[in-house]
Amino acid sequence: MQADIVILAAGQGSRMKSKLPKVLHPLAGRALVQHVIDQANTIEGAKMHVVVGHGAEQVESALANQGAAFYLQAEQLGTGHAVAQAVPGLDAQGVTLILYGDVPLTPADLMQSMVQIAKRGHLALLTVELADPTGYGRIERNAVNDVIGIVEHKDANESQLAITEVNTGILALPTALMMEWLPKLSSNNAQGEYYLTDLIAMAAEAGIAINTLNPNSEFEVQGVNNRRQLAELERWYQRQQAGLLMDAGVTLADPARIDVRGKITTGTDCSFDINLILEGEVEIGSNVSIGPNCVIKNAQIGDGVEILANSHIEGAIIAAKATVGPYARLRPGTQLAESTKVGNFVEIKKARVGTGSKVNHLSYIGDAELGSDVNVGAGTITCNYDGVNKSLTEIGDGAFIGSNSSLVAPVKVGAKATVGAGSTITREVADEELAVARAKQRNIDAWVRPTKKV
Ligand code: UD1
Ligand code: CA
Repeated sequence: MQADIVILAAGQGSRMKSKLPKVLHPLAGRALVQHVIDQANTIEGAKMHVVVGHGAEQVESALANQGAAFYLQAEQLGTGHAVAQAVPGLDAQGVTLILYGDVPLTPADLMQSMVQIAKRGHLALLTVELADPTGYGRIERNAVNDVIGIVEHKDANESQLAITEVNTGILALPTALMMEWLPKLSSNNAQGEYYLTDLIAMAAEAGIAINTLNPNSEFEVQGVNNRRQLAELERWYQRQQAGLLMDAGVTLADPARIDVRGKITTGTDCSFDINLILEGEVEIGSNVSIGPNCVIKNAQIGDGVEILANSHIEGAIIAAKATVGPYARLRPGTQLAESTKVGNFVEIKKARVGTGSKVNHLSYIGDAELGSDVNVGAGTITCNYDGVNKSLTEIGDGAFIGSNSSLVAPVKVGAKATVGAGSTITREVADEELAVARAKQRNIDAWVRPTKKV
């Protein structure tokens, strides 16, 4: 059965004080509305419908490849009016789940339960008890505790205002019933809006069972209206991520100082120091230790790898027992084989470094293939770019590159070859050869230094 997911995202979000539409503000690196879509996409038979208004073009182009249908609500006449815009795209045989684009952290399993309830012909309503219910719609119940309606804060009388169970706005119901009830909404209320919430009284009236569900935490149903709330939700989300990492066997120096902005998998007995940022897809093995202030994006890190402080790693594959940093930068296309060592102030890009090889200090290795047990001396540069083309540097097993050498690509240094310190290598060095390409030293006897002229 089709589950139509209607995401309301037409509101202005003026309290964000932003040119960016509210629902596109990022939380953990993803737009608010993207979180909603990603969770809802786990529902069987889900089809996305996004109601846009303010910043419609920006929202549509940001979500262009999501397979969602868009509906323009030119004027924001209320939540009921907003849902009505999407009705032409819905399947009357199915169920509809209504979500808000600015409520990012509702868990998928809660959404799935609501859809299941709707499939049984009932109405599922997500409500929450709030110590301070100001501003929210209040849930009205009868003497036997059945829901009979929702009254908006601005329309409520004193006894209704005392109700602390509030409407989150999230509900699911059989689509045919919704199609029947939406045209009956009126705007005869304190705000002159078409309230989606008036559907609840219609359902009660029609004898449709109204099942309420509750979140595990208020944060799961909290909307973002300003940047303070955005930051609150970000911190809560990050605390959850930190908890999941610890559950998976990772020791965190401080669960409040790690940020996960993507999908992370870890083995056991890892240890992460403070201020770690993990982005995109990161796979981390077991017994991995990561020092403070590291940024790791789209990377695979093998068992027993040690990443020292202040390293920046993106698009790299690092095999077991390698050591990286401190202050290393690994760029996309870096592949470090087992037990390699990459030290401080080393940049590596699109290069394979073989087993046991060392690039310990102040080097740039780009567009290169290094064999195993290569030793690259301090200050070595692969000159991979002539201003137009990138060329390859190849270094054979067991080669030794003396400090402060420039390897002008395309160039090969053979296995067990040696390059003397300070060389500029422009042609192939064969296996086991020594290449020295620098000016010969000249010593001048009893040299008198210039003196200052008066
Ligand atoms: C609504 C509910 C209220 C509930 C509260 C939870 C109604 C009438 N009231 O309040 O019971 O406690 O949510 O936050 O439904 N939107 C549109 N088009 C519109 C109006 C709203 O797309 O014409 C979108 C907004 O962008 C937002 C969501 O719907 O994402 C909720 O709108 P908002 O104005 O924040 O909620 P209220 O109507 O105040
Ligand atoms: Ca409103």
